[in-house]
Amino acid sequence: MPLEWDQLMMTTRLPEIDDEHKEWIRRFNEFDQAVTQGKGIEAVTDTLKFLSEYAEAHFKHEEAVAAEHNSPVAELNHINHDQYRVQLHEINRWVQQGGVSNFEVVAIKQDMEQWLINHICKIDTQILPPASE
Ligand SMILES: [Fe+2]
Ligand SMILES: [Fe+2]
Repeated sequence: MPLEWDQLMMTTRLPEIDDEHKEWIRRFNEFDQAVTQGKGIEAVTDTLKFLSEYAEAHFKHEEAVAAEHNSPVAELNHINHDQYRVQLHEINRWVQQGGVSNFEVVAIKQDMEQWLINHICKIDTQILPPASE
């Protein structure tokens, strides 16, 4: 089942950030399809590379926005991003070394999905304090 944007659960009330999350979900679903259709390690490598680059650009943007709004979760958001940066870097290195089985790619995909949904719903949605609504 593809991931779907859920306005109520996922909105940060920052339209630019929401748009980036929507795009991330769209690209993640393409990755999901490539994995499900067994499109081979090359398609998987390409999408992973794209997702890493996209994540990096998005994290930078989001961290700047959080700082600008004196966000109460700025620090937590940054720490979480840093942990994920390390994880993505390791996944990329692992996949590029070519030793990843289809089974492992599915596990990577599930981890990525869980991280993304959890992070958006629990942390990104708190970037803007309720008072500034
Ligand atoms: Fe974030
Ligand atoms: Fe985010």
